[in-house]
Amino acid sequence: MECFRFSLLSLLLLLALAAVEGAGDDRSTFIVHVQSGANVFLTAEDRMAWYQSFLPDNGRLLHAYHHVASGFAARLTQQELEAMSAMPGFLSAIPDQTYTVLTTHTPEFLGMNVAQGRRNYTSKFGAGVIIGVIDTGIFPDHPSFKDHGMPPPPAKWKGRCDFNGTSCNNKLIGARTLVASLSSQNGTRVPPVDDFGHGTHTASTAAGAAVPGANVLGHAVGTAAGMAPLAHIAMYKVCSEGCDGSDILAGIDAAVGDGCDVISMSLGGPSIPFHQDPLAIGTFGAMEKGVFVSVAAGNSGPVDSSILNDAPWMLTVAASTMDRSIRSTVQLGDGAYFHGETLYQPGDSPSVSYPLVYAGASGKPLAVFCGHGSMEGFDVKGKIVLCEFNRNISAVIQGGEVISAGGVGMILMNQFFMGYNKLAQAHILPASSVDYYAGDAIRYYIKSTANPVARISFEGTILGTTPAPSIVFFSSRGPSLQAPGVLKPDVTGPGVNVLAAWPFEVGMPSGPILPPKPYFNIISGTSMSTPHLAGIAAAIKSKHPDWSPAAIKSAMMTTADITDRSGHPILDEQYATASFFATGAGHVNPAKAADPGLVYDISPDDYLGYLCSMYTSQEVSVIARRPINCSTLTVIDDSLLNYPSITVKIPETWNSTTRIVVRRKVKNVGEVPSVYYAAIDQPDGVATVDVYPRVLEFTEANQEKSFSVVVSPGDGGARVVQGALRWVSEMHTVRSPISFMLP
Ligand SMILES: *[C@@H]1O[C@H](CO)[C@@H](O)[C@H](O)[C@H]1NC(C)=O
Ligand SMILES: *[C@@H]1O[C@H](CO)[C@@H](O)[C@H](O)[C@H]1NC(C)=O
Ligand SMILES: *[C@@H]1O[C@H](CO)[C@@H](O)[C@H](O)[C@H]1NC(C)=O
Ligand SMILES: *[C@@H]1O[C@H](CO)[C@@H](O)[C@H](O)[C@H]1NC(C)=O
Ligand SMILES: *[C@@H]1O[C@H](CO)[C@@H](O)[C@H](O)[C@H]1NC(C)=O
Ligand SMILES: *[C@@H]1O[C@H](CO)[C@@H](O)[C@H](O)[C@H]1NC(C)=O
Repeated sequence: MECFRFSLLSLLLLLALAAVEGAGDDRSTFIVHVQSGANVFLTAEDRMAWYQSFLPDNGRLLHAYHHVASGFAARLTQQELEAMSAMPGFLSAIPDQTYTVLTTHTPEFLGMNVAQGRRNYTSKFGAGVIIGVIDTGIFPDHPSFKDHGMPPPPAKWKGRCDFNGTSCNNKLIGARTLVASLSSQNGTRVPPVDDFGHGTHTASTAAGAAVPGANVLGHAVGTAAGMAPLAHIAMYKVCSEGCDGSDILAGIDAAVGDGCDVISMSLGGPSIPFHQDPLAIGTFGAMEKGVFVSVAAGNSGPVDSSILNDAPWMLTVAASTMDRSIRSTVQLGDGAYFHGETLYQPGDSPSVSYPLVYAGASGKPLAVFCGHGSMEGFDVKGKIVLCEFNRNISAVIQGGEVISAGGVGMILMNQFFMGYNKLAQAHILPASSVDYYAGDAIRYYIKSTANPVARISFEGTILGTTPAPSIVFFSSRGPSLQAPGVLKPDVTGPGVNVLAAWPFEVGMPSGPILPPKPYFNIISGTSMSTPHLAGIAAAIKSKHPDWSPAAIKSAMMTTADITDRSGHPILDEQYATASFFATGAGHVNPAKAADPGLVYDISPDDYLGYLCSMYTSQEVSVIARRPINCSTLTVIDDSLLNYPSITVKIPETWNSTTRIVVRRKVKNVGEVPSVYYAAIDQPDGVATVDVYPRVLEFTEANQEKSFSVVVSPGDGGARVVQGALRWVSEMHTVRSPISFMLP
């Protein structure tokens, strides 16, 4: 049986979490979905007994799901599985898959200065809201999880803390381990210790307390605080060696059952149909129970359709840069200089230049990447070595190769697909990570010069760098393979060189100054942008407790920024204007998202009608956790789902008489009375967009108004396939991107 592993969506940790083979018997883990027909199971014990009745013996059950799935996870042989599938109530069995995991400065960058607290958005900072973080565990003793000034958890909280002693408090209110392979059979609770740092980082990004003087190796100094510093955190550890889908589903189940309001999940695995995807199934149940879910878009960009976690009830979060750089500058013998980045900044910048050599010149395998053993016998003594980035070899290993061969410094150049992006990495020698174009110029200089030389100088933290935000190369792109009629990702947030809490000292064998505890680390990934959006959702939820997950998502999307800090369109890694498939609706603007004026709301039943347009009744029943008969529902096409972005499928028979009509409904959550006027950013060429009616008047709070977007063929000129609809009032602009799918 094929076995996928799901991953944490941070870049560095992909290396740490190599896949591990299963336990060498002929049993595999399955997530089994069952349906109870007329039976109503009132107690958890009754449900457990029912689940056990499907199994050959006790001791097979890994997880029983109670809140977001109707079923269980168990280890089964193929024969046992076949016997089970003939039993009444059996719906489907999905082989377990393994997923992988994929800030001082961010709050200010997002206009949420904690110290000043001047914006209305920040007035409540997520008070009374519980964020469940589904991740690698947590380091509870970090000051980011101190509870100074935190009230006790709300009365609805039902969770628990599996750390012994007093590690939990009013900030970290819950901590559980859901990793079946770590859980003991004797009922001992396993503390969700964070062996990787990822969960500590994401949890503190979402809702960490303010910690003054946070820094990494003395850089990026400032007050570290989460997006919602008054929200409570509950950690659900679902990863050890990778993160199994059955454990992730158990984590979502526990978070919903415990009373979390928001779930942050920086995990990703293969893109599969929603009725087979434990993350899609679990988050559907969460959404039905009013829980907002923020998930990572994936780190497989810039390839088209590399997006993960693309169900319409999730907020799918892309990653973009901030305006901060931890700078090291490379100066060549001919005077040319290039700004790069490194976390390791030796106090004294040498004013001398060293000979410069291109690693690829050694001719060995992996030499261009300074891979293991590739520097042996290659003369780099006293030289600076130019190495190329490789997703499989960490900068620390590359630096180690250079050091052991006698090199004095490293320039790490990016690959073409990374464009102008630079990552601030924890190098172990004087180094500079430079963008592809800088690296290419340096490589050319080495080739064209008899005695190439360079020096690397260290300038520390630089703020206000441009362009920012810009979409980073690794951020996964749409269109979605599973649901192409819904634009994904939804929104972007900071995910490059993000500083947050860390359990360990950041590796610095030769570093001159060891920073005092507590530790922080700067890492990158859609893993890092996801908890930013979860924290912002918590802050919105605390201001508007009655808003549905769809309303909160709409508020974030329709108020997102489409320009960068210089007022230009948001760029991608090649400094081209980023497409909607990279940015979604744009870069989150928290202050505006708390007061959007209008929202596009979606009820759980609307999603069922939509799912019936894609799947069979039995498949939809798996997601809905109850029997669904699609022929008794109003089946709606994706164009009729009341999504805050609009996707228009252009038919093959597109001719001058064709009209495509998309219907939407908006709810007034702003001033009363208010009047909104439609403004359209036309997609040149491919189509012409019109809106009826063009004026919406609201005289009551929560009043709803419907409108139609009518699309007709354009003049066939330039094939721009993006536009936007903006509803504009005196106080608000409510913007929906419109993307077109050409035949
Ligand atoms: C903040 O809220 C107050 C009162 O609720 C209001 O008068 C003020 O205009 C708001 N400020 C902003 C920037 O929205
Ligand atoms: C708490 O757990 C740690 C390891 O997780 C262990 O070393 C310690 O002895 C435990 N303390 C108690 C009181 O059980
Ligand atoms: C319970 O199981 C765990 C691991 O499976 C083991 O470390 C622990 O010693 C056991 N405790 C008891 C009381 O048997
Ligand atoms: C990284 O490793 C994977 C799997 O071993 C391989 O397919 C891929 O080509 C490697 N990438 C690079 C850049 O070497
Ligand atoms: C679903 O509903 C249709 C129409 O009411 C009915 O004919 C059909 O038998 C139902 N199917 C199931 C499996 O109940
Ligand atoms: C134009 O397209 C519509 C479908 O969009 C089709 O029904 C109609 O036959 C087409 N007309 C011509 C003249 O091709």
